[in-house]
Amino acid sequence: MNSHNPTPFPPNFLWGGAMTANQTEGAYDQGGRGLSVNDVLPRGAMSPERTPTPTSDNLKLTGIDYYNRFANDIALFGEMGFSALRFSIAWSRIFPQGDETEPNETGLVYYDRVLDELERHGIEPVITVSHYETPLHLAAAYTGWANRELIEFYGRYVRALYDRFAHRVKYWIPFNELNSAVMPLQTMPMASFMCTGITAPATSPSEQTVFRTAHNELVASQLAVKIAHQDYPQIKVGSMIGALPFYPATPNPQDVLAAMDADRRNLFFIDAAINGKYPGYLARYLRDNNITLDITDEDREILTHTPDFIAFSYYMSACASADPKLGEGGAFGGGIVNPHLAASDWGWQIDPVGLRIVLNQFWDRWGIPLFVVENGLGAKDELVEVNGQPTVIDDYRISYLNDHLVQVGEAIQDGVDVIGYTSWGPIDQVSASSGEMSKRYGYIYVDRHDDGTGTLERYRKKSYGWYSDVIRSNGATLTR
Ligand code: BG6
Repeated sequence: MNSHNPTPFPPNFLWGGAMTANQTEGAYDQGGRGLSVNDVLPRGAMSPERTPTPTSDNLKLTGIDYYNRFANDIALFGEMGFSALRFSIAWSRIFPQGDETEPNETGLVYYDRVLDELERHGIEPVITVSHYETPLHLAAAYTGWANRELIEFYGRYVRALYDRFAHRVKYWIPFNELNSAVMPLQTMPMASFMCTGITAPATSPSEQTVFRTAHNELVASQLAVKIAHQDYPQIKVGSMIGALPFYPATPNPQDVLAAMDADRRNLFFIDAAINGKYPGYLARYLRDNNITLDITDEDREILTHTPDFIAFSYYMSACASADPKLGEGGAFGGGIVNPHLAASDWGWQIDPVGLRIVLNQFWDRWGIPLFVVENGLGAKDELVEVNGQPTVIDDYRISYLNDHLVQVGEAIQDGVDVIGYTSWGPIDQVSASSGEMSKRYGYIYVDRHDDGTGTLERYRKKSYGWYSDVIRSNGATLTR
């Protein structure tokens, strides 16, 4: 720390928010867009319900109407001082079925306009190429990412995006949370379908299918790195996982081993991306479980292209135990509840120090820059009037974000290279796991409700002013 920069955050630190196309844009049938997996999941990944066609109770079909209101929303982000916005491109706006050879120009023009608006406000775009938005046709006709043909379709898609946008977009994330492909399914029966388009069976694929799917996505992610390094050297491509650190439930060495194994299920993607090959521990797991992967020589070559940074989401931690009985009915995502932590209304355990821990672990393990691209608190908000203005007094959200950002600062002081922080859902959006509107993350309230009613008007919450101050002071206003 020095007198010119009284906070640990470096002067060029990227501050902003993160969102997806499928949770915000709506306009699911406009601009030549094809259907995507989320269009048939009205209750999100937590419910086994999947409809044959889009149904009017699916809030994502309208989202928050960002497709039509993006200029207004980006102006609000600009007013807050954002220097970065992470958002995803809807694959089915660019390739409506997913297996076409030519992109849909109307879709590309839409994102040209979004980028124009970001440029106008001096906001750096961070693009997620695929965020739970596999075109429905690729799920229905090809069984999603379980089929390696998707690597080729994805390669065509990512090339189309680089061709069009690489001259104005520096940061790219090929996939949201690669490890969602191997997520335990106790709490989210439709996660395999939502995250990877698996249809057969959607709710309980075999470990063989799960790991083949994960392999195909990993190769596609690395292909995005390879194409960039070969043909678009000015851009930076970061592999992404969902960080969910596991603590041993007790100091029993068997529990410590269980926690290490649970972590490895999430971390092997990046171990492979950094080292250019699958780690030995994964090879053993596959062998012990009679899982065979179809790895070609070309795959092996693609795996050797190292990403430029590691991006990750972080919401919670969990505990692991060697005793299988302890896991039952436990924490969200398959872990065991940690008695030292409080949880959100949705059972996500709140652990700011866990963020410092993963930042340090990832830095020690991989040694390349890290980008926190999701973090936030989903909570029920109450709209009230203050000085005649509708707002939300969301002190609980401020406290969550403040405490996590303090830990990012601690990690930076520990020597970790952190590029930036984009909190989840800077404007309220439809929940991925539950399909609800009432699970809100935003600094900006959107007047839309679980029953689909609401004006879609936007209102600044208390956290809006709080985050603006944090950004403008480069973290100096955070309270320790
Ligand atoms: C992340 C996903 O894991 O969690 C987002 O990348 C999602 O798409 C976020 O919205 C929060 O989850 P939820 O279910 O509260 O929307």
